[in-house]
Amino acid sequence: TILILDFGSQYSHLITRRCREWNVYAELMPCTQRLKDLNFKPKGIILSGSPYSVYDDDAPRVDPEVFNLGVPILGICYGLQEMAWNLKGKVTKCDHREYGFANLQISKIDGPNKSVDALFEGLGDEMQVWMSHGDQLSAIPDDFHVIGTTNTAPFAAIAHNSKPWYGIQFHPEVTHSLRGKEVIGRFVRDICKCNASWTMEEFIGKEITRIRQICGPKGRVIGAVSGGVDSTVAAKLMHEAIGDRFHAIMVDNGVLRLNEAKQVHEMLNKDLGVNLTVVDASDLFLQRLKDVEDPEQKRKIIGNTFINVFEEEATKIEAAAEEEEKKNGGKGEAKGRVEWLLQGTLYPDVIESISFKGPSATIKTHHNVGGLLKDMKLKLIEPLRELFKDEVRALGRLLKIPHHLVQRHPFPGPGLAIRILGPVTREQVKILQHADSIYIEEIRKAGLYDEISQAFAVLLPVKAVGVMGDKRTYEQVITLRAVQSEDFMTADWYVFPPEVLRRISSRITNEVAGINRVTYDISSKPPSTVEWL
Ligand code: XMP
Repeated sequence: TILILDFGSQYSHLITRRCREWNVYAELMPCTQRLKDLNFKPKGIILSGSPYSVYDDDAPRVDPEVFNLGVPILGICYGLQEMAWNLKGKVTKCDHREYGFANLQISKIDGPNKSVDALFEGLGDEMQVWMSHGDQLSAIPDDFHVIGTTNTAPFAAIAHNSKPWYGIQFHPEVTHSLRGKEVIGRFVRDICKCNASWTMEEFIGKEITRIRQICGPKGRVIGAVSGGVDSTVAAKLMHEAIGDRFHAIMVDNGVLRLNEAKQVHEMLNKDLGVNLTVVDASDLFLQRLKDVEDPEQKRKIIGNTFINVFEEEATKIEAAAEEEEKKNGGKGEAKGRVEWLLQGTLYPDVIESISFKGPSATIKTHHNVGGLLKDMKLKLIEPLRELFKDEVRALGRLLKIPHHLVQRHPFPGPGLAIRILGPVTREQVKILQHADSIYIEEIRKAGLYDEISQAFAVLLPVKAVGVMGDKRTYEQVITLRAVQSEDFMTADWYVFPPEVLRRISSRITNEVAGINRVTYDISSKPPSTVEWL
């Protein structure tokens, strides 16, 4: 295991991902973690970047114990500065923040063409790197030497003269640092000598055993599925582990995509054999959403109604299980045995809640099922909590979940309700479902689906004038959104080939009754968000 100590950089989780891309297990912990309390011995430590300056009064500090563990250390950006600061190097404030690309010149050791330090071995003479910092080193600590420079940073990369300690000013974890992944690979594989043993095959085996142990021979688990990647993969994994003692529930909340409930039923139940109940609660949801326009209010109503419906269904499942056991000669012992609630929590959610600053401010309240079913006293089971989204997809592929599902774009819990900007009615849902399905169908036909991170249509509550035949029309507007993003914290709008947009627009205005105008959203996040509500 590689231990990554998080000093609050927005990129910390990416370091974890890059390590795992080398099949090396890495765990992110807050920098306040006391090293003597660790329950494992890391083979190497990476110190992350940070929005702080080492001069700030409240700057996060590294446990000096890291320098006594005798394992390789890599300090990234603030991690480098914090390391140098601890080892009596000098850190100074730059006149202005450096943010963007830089060219790193890799230093040769012992004269021209001799060799380079292990961290940059085999990476050539220079590479494009990404910088984002306010302070930088102005003197290196004793016993260190320079291994890389840029135009503005004479100490852009340093190494200890005899110990495997490194510091780099740039961010190898972001994809803008073109060979950054290889730098991390050098560190974890060659310098820390970690085995490439973190594989999905291993993960599946271990996780299935763990689930079986937790649930015992009779325990039952319920879980909600949405048709999204996470819940589908989690459900299939549970099915592999405990078969029909896992009950999946899909709630049709009336604001799903076109034919979604039916498709999820076919795929999960018929193709993957998962024990699934689909509950059509659309009337209840739509009735509660009537005349509601405020997005947070919509989220709350959907979240709470979901819990009500889910609880009711779970109670029925428990009663049915009890009946079945009695029928089979048992004493109805299943009662009380639905002890567990499956949750598709992913690692980024876990990281969010372990940050040393505490969970960051929620900009939108993303609805979450867990923790809310208090009265049922269900315990949570979270088989994906160590995984990133890409890893969940890889797991899904190994579990033989079809490609189109594994690669599916994320879909928010509150569904189309946050893509209908005005009041949510059946008619509005129908219009949006139709426009959205045309949009996605054309994206798939053009072969662009997998290169877009998320695409969807939004129904605006405004009317515009149009002309059809000889008639003036006065109808609603659809806006199309498509973004590329690595983690949805930031996102860029996607540049479509014009002919694809032309086809989509023409089909939507021709085929969807009630729409006479289509626009394309060219806003990035920040300052916009991915969803419109
Ligand atoms: P924003 O709009 O916050 O979206 O930039 C980032 C990602 O989160 C999804 N999203 C949600 N997911 N419940 C969810 O389950 C929600 O309330 C919610 N709001 C946004 C959004 O689709 C995008 O992938």
